Parts: sequence; structure tokens; C-alpha cells
Amino acid sequence: MLTRTRAPAQAPSQVQTGLGSVCLRDVGKTFAARRRGAAPVTALDGLSLDAGPGEIVAVVGPSGCGKTTLLELVCGLTEPDAGSLQAAPATLMAQRDLLLPWRSAVDNAALALRVAGIERAAARTRAAALLRDFGLEGFERARPYEMSGGMRQRVAFARTLLSGRTVLCLDEPFASLDALTRQDMQDWLAGTLATQPRTVVLVTHDVEEAIVLADRVLVLAPRPGRVVATLDVDVERPRRRTDARLVALRERALRELRA
Ligand SMILES: Nc1ncnc2c1ncn2[C@@H]1O[C@H](COP(=O)(O)OP(=O)(O)O)[C@@H](O)[C@H]1O
Ligand SMILES: [Mg+2]
Repeated sequence: MLTRTRAPAQAPSQVQTGLGSVCLRDVGKTFAARRRGAAPVTALDGLSLDAGPGEIVAVVGPSGCGKTTLLELVCGLTEPDAGSLQAAPATLMAQRDLLLPWRSAVDNAALALRVAGIERAAARTRAAALLRDFGLEGFERARPYEMSGGMRQRVAFARTLLSGRTVLCLDEPFASLDALTRQDMQDWLAGTLATQPRTVVLVTHDVEEAIVLADRVLVLAPRPGRVVATLDVDVERPRRRTDARLVALRERALRELRA
């Protein structure tokens, strides 16, 4: 059985900041074979996930276990072929930052507003304000190649926030960064979400990232992708990576992944 409901599309000039929720029940997704004669791929099977308003839910699992497919389903970019899915309007921040190389930071960030029909000067003003909040003052006119990986991710995140969707789907947002920058960006994201709460589905293969950031962590096993453990991260924020409770949860998640 397949049921699906979605909030209606918003009027172009209304950018929402409310908090939406996501509910998947026993969702399945199978892809037809890419080559003739090959077997179809069941990317997800019987997957359930709940993210309430303002919750951060992380999904960890090895490459190929269906994490990106899951986010594409939540964002309505593809349809499930089993189960039910209800999601407030969601936006995907893809694995690569996907900034337009010929556009400045402010114009890249403003893109979501421009697509929503907002006039250029107003879109730039709002985007520039957010870039300043994100510590990018002075880089408004920089092109992506003039910025570090962490700075580009912040621009991409600004663009994602400005989409005005109430649910953010982040696909391995920091996977391409070096270890130190990645930790800085995780702390930055935790701080940003503390001041500007959003409902977030965060996909990562980095167990520590999941535990440090999320309220709840789903551990996925591959082929077909399914939830093998759910860990509640009942630890107050701001969090320290060395907190014994976080370390214990990290070990548990790793054990579940290796099981
Ligand atoms: N459009 C597609 N057509 C065929 N197979 C696909 C398609 N998208 C993903 N898959 C397959 O589904 C599985 C899950 O992919 P994906 O969701 O990208 O995993 P992850 O993001 O966890 O690495 C993989 O085996 C992948 O090859
Ligand atoms: Mg992926």
C-alpha cells in the first residue's frame, strides 16, 4: 500500500520558517536494473523514520545502503514504491556543494530566493545578511574557487536555509572536508541549528558527526537498506565530543554497523 501527502506548494514570495515534520512508514524503493540482464536493486526495504518539528535525525550507514535515496524520497524527487511517506516541504543539500562557479557567494546563496521569484536586490540583501551571520563578511563577492571548502559549505547551507522549506535534508554535508575543518563545521552547524532551529534529516557515514549533532540516530544496514538500530542521543547541548555518554553511543553505533 502506498499513501502520500504533502503540504501544498508555497506562494513564491512567502518564505516559511516554521518547523515541519517527516514520517516514513515501511517505505520501500527498488530501482530497475541499469544494464539489461542485471537484477533490480532494492535500495530501501521497510524503512520507517520520524522527525518531529525541530528534531535532528541522523542516518548513518555504509556507502550504497540507500541514504541518498532516502533523502530524495523525503524531498519528493523520487517516489516510494511501498509504504507511506508524509513530509513537509523539504530541501536537499546535496553531497557536493553544487555552487555555480561563475556566481559570487551572495548570488549563489540568493539563488533559492531568485528561483522563488524574489527580486534581485531584495534577495541579495537577505542572502548577504545570512552570510554575515555565517562569518563570511567580506566574501560576499568571492567566487567559489576563491573560498575554502568550509566556506563553500556555509554558502551552500545559506542557500538551503533561504529556500524557506521547513525540512532540511543534508546529504553527507562535510564528507569532502579535512578532519579539522569537518569538526569545526559540525560545531558551527550545531550552533546554527541552536539559534535557527529546523527539522533536519542528516545523512552521514561519520558516526561521530551523527552522535554529536542529532537527537536520534538511525543505523542502516545495506542491501536492502533498512534500520538495524535506533539510538536516542539524550545529551544536552552544547555537546563535547569527549562526553562519556557520546563516546559510549559512538561505540554502540559502530558495533551495530559492524554486526
Ligand atoms: N537511479 C538509480 N538507478 C539504479 N540504481 C540506483 C539509482 N540510485 C541509486 N541506486 C542504487 O541504490 C543503492 C543505494 O544508493 P544510494 O541511495 O545512493 O546509497 P548511499 O547514498 O547510501 O551511498 C545503490 O546500490 C545504488 O547503486
Ligand atoms: Mg549517498
